[in-house]
Amino acid sequence: MKLGPGLAGIVKLAIVLNVYGATPASANSWTAPNVDGGKSWKDAFAKASSLVNNMTLAEKVNMTAGIPGSCVGNIGGVPRLNISGFCLEDGPAGVRPLHGVSQFPVGLTTAATWDRELIYKRAYAMGKEFYDQGVHLALAPVTGGPLGRAPLAGRNWEGWSPDPYATGVASYLSVLGMQDAGVMATAKHFIGYEQETFRNPYNLAEVYAVFPANEQSPISSNIDDKTMHEVYLWPFAEAVRAGVAHVMCSYNNLNGTQACQNSFTLNHLLKTELSFQGSVISDWGGQHSDVDALIGGLDMAMPGSGFGGVFGQFWSELDKLVENGTVPEDRVTDAALRVLTPHIWLGQDETPLPEHVFNALPTLYDAPDMYKDVRQNSTAELIRKIGAEGATLLKNTGGLPLQNPQRIAVLGNDATDNALGQNACGGAGIACPLENLNGTLSYGGGSGYAYAPYIITPLDALKERAIQSGAEISAITVIDNFESAIQSLVPTSDVTIVFVSGWATEFQDRPDITLNNNADALIAVAVNYSSNVVVVMHIPGVVDIEKWADNENVTAIVAAWLPGQETGNAITDVLYGDVNPSGKLPFTWAKSLDDYYPDTIVSDPILEPQANFTDGVFIDYRWFDAQNITPRYEFGYGLSYTTFEYSKLVVSEPQTADSSLFGSISLDASAVSASLKLSSSGFVSESDSIQDTAEPFTDSDGSNSLYDVVLQVTATITNTGDVIGSEVAQLYVSIPGDDQPVRVLRGFIKVKDIAPGESSTASFDLRRKDLSVWDSVKQTWYIPTGEFTVSVGASSRDLPLSMRWSP
Ligand SMILES: *[C@@H]1O[C@H](CO)[C@@H](O)[C@H](O)[C@H]1NC(C)=O
Ligand SMILES: *[C@@H]1O[C@H](CO)[C@@H](O)[C@H](O)[C@H]1NC(C)=O
Ligand SMILES: *[C@@H]1O[C@H](CO)[C@@H](O)[C@H](O)[C@H]1NC(C)=O
Ligand SMILES: *[C@@H]1O[C@H](CO)[C@@H](O)[C@H](O)[C@H]1NC(C)=O
Ligand SMILES: *[C@@H]1O[C@H](CO)[C@@H](O)[C@H](O)[C@H]1NC(C)=O
Ligand SMILES: *[C@@H]1O[C@H](CO)[C@@H](O)[C@H](O)[C@H]1NC(C)=O
Ligand SMILES: *[C@@H]1O[C@H](CO)[C@@H](O)[C@H](O)[C@H]1NC(C)=O
Ligand SMILES: *[C@@H]1O[C@H](CO)[C@@H](O)[C@H](O)[C@H]1NC(C)=O
Ligand SMILES: *[C@@H]1O[C@H](CO)[C@@H](O)[C@H](O)[C@H]1NC(C)=O
Ligand SMILES: *[C@@H]1O[C@H](CO)[C@@H](O)[C@H](O)[C@H]1NC(C)=O
Repeated sequence: MKLGPGLAGIVKLAIVLNVYGATPASANSWTAPNVDGGKSWKDAFAKASSLVNNMTLAEKVNMTAGIPGSCVGNIGGVPRLNISGFCLEDGPAGVRPLHGVSQFPVGLTTAATWDRELIYKRAYAMGKEFYDQGVHLALAPVTGGPLGRAPLAGRNWEGWSPDPYATGVASYLSVLGMQDAGVMATAKHFIGYEQETFRNPYNLAEVYAVFPANEQSPISSNIDDKTMHEVYLWPFAEAVRAGVAHVMCSYNNLNGTQACQNSFTLNHLLKTELSFQGSVISDWGGQHSDVDALIGGLDMAMPGSGFGGVFGQFWSELDKLVENGTVPEDRVTDAALRVLTPHIWLGQDETPLPEHVFNALPTLYDAPDMYKDVRQNSTAELIRKIGAEGATLLKNTGGLPLQNPQRIAVLGNDATDNALGQNACGGAGIACPLENLNGTLSYGGGSGYAYAPYIITPLDALKERAIQSGAEISAITVIDNFESAIQSLVPTSDVTIVFVSGWATEFQDRPDITLNNNADALIAVAVNYSSNVVVVMHIPGVVDIEKWADNENVTAIVAAWLPGQETGNAITDVLYGDVNPSGKLPFTWAKSLDDYYPDTIVSDPILEPQANFTDGVFIDYRWFDAQNITPRYEFGYGLSYTTFEYSKLVVSEPQTADSSLFGSISLDASAVSASLKLSSSGFVSESDSIQDTAEPFTDSDGSNSLYDVVLQVTATITNTGDVIGSEVAQLYVSIPGDDQPVRVLRGFIKVKDIAPGESSTASFDLRRKDLSVWDSVKQTWYIPTGEFTVSVGASSRDLPLSMRWSP
């Protein structure tokens, strides 16, 4: 991999010394490279340099150490030089914690759309709300921490997919979208943060605590170098390429060293290898020291001395530490530059942000009395569209789309309003009681929760629709003693739609994958009295549906995820066929928790808990493929109301490719299952209408870049059914080598609105990195020798087109 300008020599030496050293990650062994603005931020960096050069030590410290203030995080700024302070706020799916904002679909829902344009538009609309609320720095997007290694992890829904490529694309587009709206984005949580249990037994009592705070180490994620590069670091590399302003370090340890003072991950991987030019921000409570954190690569202490110092008063005496020679001033200067440069790059220094209405909170999670409406008229429509496009049709034996039913039974408490207020789960009351979630579930809980301005419940929307079509609709929403009510309502209904849910929240991992609120019993009764039961699930990931999924009376199953405020409208669009479902699973849906890689949540009550990532690169579908385990629904799976056929796989070398590294491609025509045509014409960018506005930091010299497109692939998709529909075409690559997964996702595109009988072309760009693996001895990416296979199809296990070649 190309290194940042000027650093290559130093870094190579460091690598040689450390690769063979015993402790690659010890706190102080990797020095922080000084920022230089990289390629994209040169002008902003020059301006930041002239300002920082004129700052006193106290002023530089004011740019890096959080202070008490009215936002969840506050940077003081330098009034003497007319540099404003920063307001920092959560979260990944909307501005928190105030009212007057939208409750967007969560990351998982958006990931299930596989729609690059919608991912970007959501990020832009969200970024605009942050900006209009006067937030300089948004604590979003989740960029693969958690990635989703553990199906039970409490925060997977805040992110995207356990596949690093998919999460990489989503993170890249989210950073672009948010920053195009003027707000600084933060890729989080760096890195290896894959469970809530034992995440941070430091300063604050956590719900899972078994030892008093500070007696116990956080969970240590022990990740080998190959897995780090090919899986967990991958999405962060994409966020950096997109020009992300900041990166938030996580709570956990890595190989025994805490993430916010880990010089290997921060100074080496992030700042040197990825050439990241922005600042590293601590998660609230993630900073455990003054000196080791600064030397280890942290640039911004959050919340520093905010919140009455409950997280530790870190860096409140940073000036004294410099003055008495404990830490070098250069490091503080570098940190101030990293904080200030992206602020200038986005023009926040020249155009002041709108005034904000945040007011200092006694705690982090109480719903405060803060309100300023910044919602745009078009946003509700976008939220509804993402909810509908993300809804994933898992089973359909004729239940959907609804054929103008005249008598509709609706079952389940998830169909209706939360009787305790629409923000009672996830808002002020962060922890919903697991056994009786109240009302429809539009979100998970914790700092990823955004306050809903309203909730259109499934029942609200279905009623409106039923009234329009002159139908009768009746709902049973109790969670027990429902038998006789069901017995009297259901047998005379044309269709019975059951709404069920599963809760997940920050702070604790899910105890199991069982649906909440007695849902299995509810469905068991429903199928007893109706031969047309449609099940809709509002869930944060996999749930156990084995008791009823194969029941012949269950005629359709839809995973509607966590869709935000427009939840009812979105699902009604899908149920009635106004939107033909095109969502697909961004993770593997197993039949049993036992089918996933074992023990991914470490909960042994010991002082130094260790999570050994022994699954390596074999996460999610890669594990199921390698072990030949049949899942209930595979990664990438999802049905439509129409059918699609794949044909005409074309693999070509782009005209601009430099073939010296890649070699010449010899195609094995006998293995091609569709017509073979070598051509370099007809190139359509995979990134659809979205332009890459930020230049990658890593392409320092432009040639032989890891991110050059070396192969272009197209396939023809034909709608062979009766209704218009969109199809998520997926491209997988089998990379040769004994230690490689059977196949890995390396391209996807939603081919939109194909009319019956019509065809469209799906185009994919494969970059050099997409065909490479990491050599941890040589510390470089390389394209292995041997036979590659490129496959294109509808899911990770439905790949009708493939082609083999040996570079
Ligand atoms: C900073 O100081 C330099 C001289 O060291 C001066 O030329 C420059 O104008 C100053 N810039 C600002 C923004 O004060
Ligand atoms: C630090 O920021 C605070 C808040 O904006 C400001 O009052 C104070 O003057 C700043 N300190 C310095 C040294 O600039
Ligand atoms: C953890 O240790 C392994 C084995 O020595 C090494 O390959 C890896 O780079 C280390 N990772 C981190 C984050 O320190
Ligand atoms: C330097 O200053 C810090 C902060 O006041 C203090 O904690 C530390 O003991 C001092 N170290 C030396 C060597 O004086
Ligand atoms: C201070 O910065 C603001 C933008 O934040 C700008 O409008 C104003 O003109 C600046 N004032 C001076 C004295 O440079
Ligand atoms: C949004 O809708 C309201 C009410 O219909 C209207 O008054 C307003 O002008 C609209 N705003 C924009 C920006 O379209
Ligand atoms: C929701 O809360 C209301 C009011 O406390 C209660 O009557 C109802 O049983 C609750 N529903 C569930 C499913 O817990
Ligand atoms: C289903 O119906 C049968 C026959 O009426 C009854 O015996 C059984 O208990 C019912 N099962 C459920 C789950 O309601
Ligand atoms: C399906 O529903 C019918 C009633 O419509 C019932 O008689 C039958 O037992 C049910 N079958 C199953 C497998 O539950
Ligand atoms: C993790 O790996 C270390 C080193 O191989 C080993 O000593 C330890 O027992 C492992 N811990 C767990 C929980 O598997």
